[in-house]
Amino acid sequence: MYTQSDLKNLVDKAIVNLSFNHEAEKLIDPIRYILSIGGKRLRPVMALMSCNLFNDKIEEGVIPSAGLEIFHNFTLVHDDIIDQAPVRRNFPTVHTKWNTNQAILSGDVMAFIANDCFLQSPQRCLLKVFREFNKAAIEVCTGQQLDIDYERALLVSQNEYLRMIELKTAVLLAASAKIGALIGNAEDKDAEALYEFGRNLGLAFQIQDDLLDTYGDSKLFGKMQGGDIVANKKTILSVKAFELSKGRQFKHLQELYSGNAEDSEAKVKAVMEIYDRLNIRNITETLANEYIEKAFVMLDKVDIPRERKKELTSLASSLIGRDK
Ligand code: IPE
Ligand code: IPE
Ligand code: MG
Ligand code: MG
Ligand code: MG
Repeated sequence: MYTQSDLKNLVDKAIVNLSFNHEAEKLIDPIRYILSIGGKRLRPVMALMSCNLFNDKIEEGVIPSAGLEIFHNFTLVHDDIIDQAPVRRNFPTVHTKWNTNQAILSGDVMAFIANDCFLQSPQRCLLKVFREFNKAAIEVCTGQQLDIDYERALLVSQNEYLRMIELKTAVLLAASAKIGALIGNAEDKDAEALYEFGRNLGLAFQIQDDLLDTYGDSKLFGKMQGGDIVANKKTILSVKAFELSKGRQFKHLQELYSGNAEDSEAKVKAVMEIYDRLNIRNITETLANEYIEKAFVMLDKVDIPRERKKELTSLASSLIGRDK
């Protein structure tokens, strides 16, 4: 069995060895940059762990898994334009270091480079893998659209929020786990259980990402603290706060979340005070842990001896209370 660090090394090596068309270096520089400044490599590692459940040989999965990481990084480059985020992985975002047009174009080509990686899946499962990836990719864009729309929506329900994060984040983790299983030659029902494992883990993951955006240590998390509050994002924190606040507190929250505050530091402080009074942090942590538990239930359904699942189990456990 491969360990998490073995798999991360394999993915990193595959990424470093990618060959690009060098006719326009400027197109490639931001790609090399975003892929070299860190990242947990969660999606490809999950895919390869999933593949390794069914197969001792995982070589065939390495390039398609690298494709998952490249696609993920493409979504980050464009997400940072959309969210006007200055910092990622403790480094300037691509559109800040270069400019928005460069980030759009280099991001675009990353999506197609990812396609190339999926096309290198074994022939026996190529079509299934490609369809699974493409479906997830369209869903991610759909989720990002809802994320944008919800910035301006007055009220977003918890269910609307959950659907939004299912699309923008969870389906890619789900597809990663499933694609790994397909390449490992799993039975359909096991591949499906792994999809559900990844989906629940992905929901927990985005809920925690929201939590870390406000309460995390920005040095560890690598992103600007309070960025979601400044951008009026509907996160689990704000959705819960709107749901639980009443009267003057509700009005105050509405004021804070409408328009662009002159003093963003004061805004973050005021919103956090309301969160604290409503116990939002605890409520959110509990919700994230519920989804991690659901993920474990799905992993139990995969028809493989428990001992062989220990890498995936520890990966899922490590997401509880993560700090980056
Ligand atoms: C960030 O994903 C975007 C979300 C879906 C929350 P990761 O937290 O996996 O980012 P990296 O790749 O490790 O930087
Ligand atoms: C992540 O949402 C979704 C995608 C990148 C598709 P966020 O906007 O919360 O991600 P971060 O916090 O910028 O990484
Ligand atoms: Mg963002
Ligand atoms: Mg975003
Ligand atoms: Mg975030």
